[in-house]
Amino acid sequence: MGVVIIGGGQAGFQTAASLRLEGFEERITLIGDEPHVPYQRPPLSKGFLLGKQEQRHAELRPAAFYETQRITLVTARVAAIDRTSRRVKLDSGEHIEYDTLVLATGARNRMLPYEGVCYLRTLGEATEIRQRLAAAQDVVVIGGGFIGLEVAAAARTLSKQVTVIEGQPRLMARVVAPVVSEYFRGQHENKGVDVLLNATLYGIREREVLLRERTSRPADLVIAGIGVEPNVELARDAGLPVGNGITVDEYLRTPDERIFAIGDCAECPNPFAQMCVRLESVQNAVDQATSAAKAIVGRGAPYAAVPWFWTDQYDIHLQMAGLPVGFDQIVTRGEPESRKFSVFYFRIGKLCAVDSINRPADHLAARKLIGAHTALSPDQASDESFDLKTAS
Ligand code: FAD
Ligand code: APR
Repeated sequence: MGVVIIGGGQAGFQTAASLRLEGFEERITLIGDEPHVPYQRPPLSKGFLLGKQEQRHAELRPAAFYETQRITLVTARVAAIDRTSRRVKLDSGEHIEYDTLVLATGARNRMLPYEGVCYLRTLGEATEIRQRLAAAQDVVVIGGGFIGLEVAAAARTLSKQVTVIEGQPRLMARVVAPVVSEYFRGQHENKGVDVLLNATLYGIREREVLLRERTSRPADLVIAGIGVEPNVELARDAGLPVGNGITVDEYLRTPDERIFAIGDCAECPNPFAQMCVRLESVQNAVDQATSAAKAIVGRGAPYAAVPWFWTDQYDIHLQMAGLPVGFDQIVTRGEPESRKFSVFYFRIGKLCAVDSINRPADHLAARKLIGAHTALSPDQASDESFDLKTAS
């Protein structure tokens, strides 16, 4: 019995670790379908591809941690949840009973309808891409979002010919403002990456990627990073509500009070977006797991952590705080030419998000300002002589 967690990623691992930190003494079972101890994904598209980091650097804890913390790791795929008998069924047919169930099933990559394309989500996939990169000359990356651009940066750093094919008119359009997209396009182009915007993929042949604009690019390695879809099927089949993720309340609880959902797979009311959102980030996975663990031991509080995220491309460290949902004004602090600047997003005069490029102090200040709902005017934000720490 005790707590059963489905998904051995960032959120699943953190739930187990936080439960023990909260003094939870009963059984904890962490079921994951990947053949590794839980690991973090961010290095996979960064240092791991460059050969600067290995699997051991990505592991969240060594195997011994799970023994000392009495966390039972089960390598298996959960096939179904039976809410009436409160047990999960594994692919093997075996059942595991729970008092409380945490769904931390994460997300999976969207896929293209072509053969021979690599995707990057797991350590296994990263290992394959790393090996194939070593032998490749011409790399085509489909998707100019976080994954695509990090992979492009790594491949270019390894001196490959790199093309990025992005369907939208600008890079990372899902999350950042045009000024940030434009900055990154310029940086990639300066490094020699061929960035194609508004581009439509037409097909993939052996050693060639075809575009609808009747052009093509040579490719001995094609990698797609075209977004993810949440793993919601287990919850849906068990009769739990699902929107753009498994729907939970501000305590991360589904309408079944014994079942929680957290991380990339869950959508939750978010005070910074003023609506229900599903976020895809380490911060969200860790903080929701910590909150769910507190709720399980009876010390829950509404989830209200400030969202933040980062991406590393070449020597550019972009950090994002808050959510730029519905922003109507942006100002910049610092000059893009200096390679260090921040973009402040305002919604009806109120600061809602900040993107910082190689300005970590701005990022830390922004997290505090947004979390405390501090009044900061656009003029103060853009005035470099104004100390953000003094805003009140
Ligand atoms: P996941 O990490 O997806 O873990 C879910 C786990 O559950 C998976 O192992 C899955 O196989 C398993 N599972 C699913 N269904 C079942 C089942 N039925 N039975 C058993 N197991 C199951 N975020 C940042 O903030 N910054 C970054 O720089 C950054 N870089 C990234 C780079 C890469 C290459 C990737 C892929 C992601 C990156 N992210 C980054 C995103 C971040 O890693 C995710 O938001 C985070 O991993 C989400 O954690 P999670 O536990 O919710 O889901
Ligand atoms: N052709 C070209 N571009 C496409 C296509 C297509 N067929 N389909 C989608 N795209 C583009 C989108 O316009 C977007 O810019 O792919 C990009 C996907 O970017 P993201 O949504 O940021 O997704 P991805 O880069 O795959 O990252 C997935 O990993 O880094 C983490 O947490 C992060 O959630 C993110 C996840």
